[in-house]
Amino acid sequence: MAKRSVPSNESAAPAPVSSSDRDDGIVIRRARLDDVPGIAGIMADYVVQGVLLPRPVSELYQCIREFHVAEHDGEIVACAALRLLWDDLGEVRSLAVRPDYHGRGLGAVLVNAVLDDARAIHVPRVIALTREIGFFESCGFSIVSRDTLPRKVWTDCVRCPRRHACDEVAVVIDLIPGASQAAAAAGRSWTLPIPHLLQPSGSALPVIS
Ligand SMILES: CC(C)(COP(=O)(O)OP(=O)(O)OC[C@H]1O[C@@H](n2cnc3c(N)ncnc32)[C@H](O)[C@@H]1OP(=O)(O)O)[C@@H](O)C(=O)NCCC(=O)NCCS
Repeated sequence: MAKRSVPSNESAAPAPVSSSDRDDGIVIRRARLDDVPGIAGIMADYVVQGVLLPRPVSELYQCIREFHVAEHDGEIVACAALRLLWDDLGEVRSLAVRPDYHGRGLGAVLVNAVLDDARAIHVPRVIALTREIGFFESCGFSIVSRDTLPRKVWTDCVRCPRRHACDEVAVVIDLIPGASQAAAAAGRSWTLPIPHLLQPSGSALPVIS
């Protein structure tokens, strides 16, 4: 009888995530599902301080693929995520470095990882809503008037305790030169045309063109 091929433990293991090791032993890599408690832990203090928006743990699981993390001695010490907002706009979200790891370049490395993700899928510009203006400027972002950003950017603000006295500043980086100017000139509509339904002859199912 022909033997069924059984995958070895090695081949059954998940594909390695991209990572980078630093001299200080901190590993920067894509997040995994089992990082969620660590990510939630780092964010929790900043949520209490009103620095970060609360994100339910269930949402962290749903969007874990948006995250990069810094890991040291088996602990998550920093995280950042890319949220896609529209066809030309991404947002740096949930950026948090554990206080005892501040000033070691982790924030900048994670923002760069998020920007690399955005570049990889051709996002022309990325924003952040922040009070850490100096940090984002050092990462190449510039302040932009909040009024120039679409309302969609502010949809999560309903969850923010500071929503009635918001002091966050919008910063933007163009990953394609001139992307912000182009968006402003085009007067973006933030709607997409509904695709036409075609009923091909002889077919029972409509095809979306
Ligand atoms: C903001 C934060 C992510 C920075 O992380 P970090 O790892 O300490 O920052 P880095 O060490 O990568 O700093 C990178 C650069 O930004 C500068 N920088 C960092 N924090 C800064 C600040 N508050 N103001 C001005 N510049 C700052 C650093 O001096 C460094 O500059 P350099 O490249 O010229 O040396 C971190 O302080 C944090 O977690 N804050 C609380 C959560 C938060 O505010 N998140 C942002 C929400 S959008």
